[in-house]
Amino acid sequence: MSVQKTGRVEGKVAIITGAASGIGRAAAILFAREGAKLALADMQEGALQETLTLVKAEGAEAVIRKTNVADESDVQALIDLAVKSFGRIDIVCNNAGITGQYCGPEDWEGEDWQRVYAVNVLGAVYTIKHAAKYLIDSKKGAIVNTASVAGIRSGAGGNAYSASKAALINFTQTAACDLGGFNVRVNAVCPGLIETGMTKPVFDYAREKGKAEKLGNRCELRRYGRPEEVAAAILFLASDDAGYITGQALPVDGGNTASLNLPGMKA
Ligand SMILES: NC(=O)c1ccc[n+]([C@@H]2O[C@H](COP(=O)([O-])OP(=O)(O)OC[C@H]3O[C@@H](n4cnc5c(N)ncnc54)[C@H](O)[C@@H]3O)[C@@H](O)[C@H]2O)c1
Repeated sequence: MSVQKTGRVEGKVAIITGAASGIGRAAAILFAREGAKLALADMQEGALQETLTLVKAEGAEAVIRKTNVADESDVQALIDLAVKSFGRIDIVCNNAGITGQYCGPEDWEGEDWQRVYAVNVLGAVYTIKHAAKYLIDSKKGAIVNTASVAGIRSGAGGNAYSASKAALINFTQTAACDLGGFNVRVNAVCPGLIETGMTKPVFDYAREKGKAEKLGNRCELRRYGRPEEVAAAILFLASDDAGYITGQALPVDGGNTASLNLPGMKA
């Protein structure tokens, strides 16, 4: 999909977490194309370096930092790097996420729930905590959290993952209320099934079993999504085009959450 280049985040400084792969990498490339200066974070240093090469090829100024978003001091160091490098922060995209276990109640493990919450919820809490004052200084701050359709309905991930994404959606609303008075907007995107590193096992399995045509066919558009399609929604919510939108969770899901999707009702 080609998004017309219009400089929608020209000169803005954006932090993107989970930028080494999938949706985060696609967002980094799109933000670079649209004129942003980037501070990119991920646990995977080698792949993050590849993203850096890709955003530089788009002409962007960018820095990277190996960061575990579940570690508050690591997140603080990321924010410090962005400010030291570019002097300000205008946009934060909390995109890093993990899935956790997919199992029945008897096998739920507290440690797994804690790991999933630490990355998917506290990761966003820490970046917002440490970036808030800079976003307020920028007078037009924007935060975009990558939640999931799993945070709206069941059936799109394990229980801890779903609950963590629901928490992230609610945190998006409460943070929007805390920061709205400072003209800092906070929104979320809720992707449906997107082909990325996270969903690779699902895609590999379906293709191996000759069931590739079934991938994504339970949503109304009858197909899975691409990382670039989610990146386009993240860019919209981060840009001034969404200047009067805050506290919202936007599904980017081919209509998946528009339907009750009753068991047995779809081919
Ligand atoms: N792919 C989908 O179908 C889908 C659907 C809904 C929501 N999402 C969400 O989209 C976001 C991006 O995931 P993706 O699909 O691009 O998957 P991905 O695995 O390709 O990318 C996720 C990135 O996050 C990084 N990451 C994981 N834990 C981290 C941590 N503690 N600190 C820093 N970085 C960390 C990973 O290294 C990886 O590069 C996630 O929040 C995910 O939950 C994905």
